[in-house]
Amino acid sequence: MSIKDYVALKKEEMRKEVSELKIVPTLAIIQVNDDPASNAYVKGKLKDAENIGIKGILIKLDESISEEDLIKEINKINNDDSIHGLIVQMPLPKQINEEHIKLMVDPKKDVDGFHPLSSFNPCTPQGIVDYLKAENVDFADKNAVVIGRSNIVGKPMAKMLTNLNCNTTILHSKTSKKNLEMFLANADIIVIAIGKKWFLDKQTFKNDAIIVDVGINREDGKLYGDARPDLNVKLQTPVPGGVGLLTRLTLMKNLLQAYYQEIK
Ligand code: GUN
Repeated sequence: MSIKDYVALKKEEMRKEVSELKIVPTLAIIQVNDDPASNAYVKGKLKDAENIGIKGILIKLDESISEEDLIKEINKINNDDSIHGLIVQMPLPKQINEEHIKLMVDPKKDVDGFHPLSSFNPCTPQGIVDYLKAENVDFADKNAVVIGRSNIVGKPMAKMLTNLNCNTTILHSKTSKKNLEMFLANADIIVIAIGKKWFLDKQTFKNDAIIVDVGINREDGKLYGDARPDLNVKLQTPVPGGVGLLTRLTLMKNLLQAYYQEIK
């Protein structure tokens, strides 16, 4: 099933489920940066919430806010029982340490999965695993290559694939061309999150490989993935209309799970 159809189906299931709940599941989004990418992401999340019947509350703060004042705002939401999930949209302005902020969100409400004690995995790798499972992908003893070592995608992705019994390798921007080509030629599952337009292109792939493209590269107002579209493999996720939709879906799933845990 395409990602678009899969996401539409799952959202419809959630919408039905939410319509039967007495207390409205509620997500708060704190936004500090006013850049176009953050605005677009936040708008997408609020739209998803509305479609499913989740109440979305946007708290837009001034870009000059101090770390201390931002933490006060986070604590207000941490202590508000009517709010089940909280995300702080990243990136944050330079006067604020993002790593401090990630630790201030109550782990029970941390639907982004950024806190080390959060009940949730970060949304992008979790969304990818859920989709691949729905597609009946085999993980055991498969060679997985994750390109990119970020804390929100590459590292948790590699951990999750390893827990699914993949033989996992993490590659990154400093990997040599020779090693890149060697690992790719033997890879069954490739997840690329390196932020370079069409980085995967002329290399050799197994023709039954799976390529999951996490890249979002903007050029002249258009979006490009980290892989050239239509490589000769069994399954390749599109950009746009691919992993971004899975990330957003997982955020809503996590919010519903946080809701059930909190009203219990
Ligand atoms: N900025 C880019 N992606 C994300 C995300 O998944 N969560 C948050 N909070 N900020 C982001």
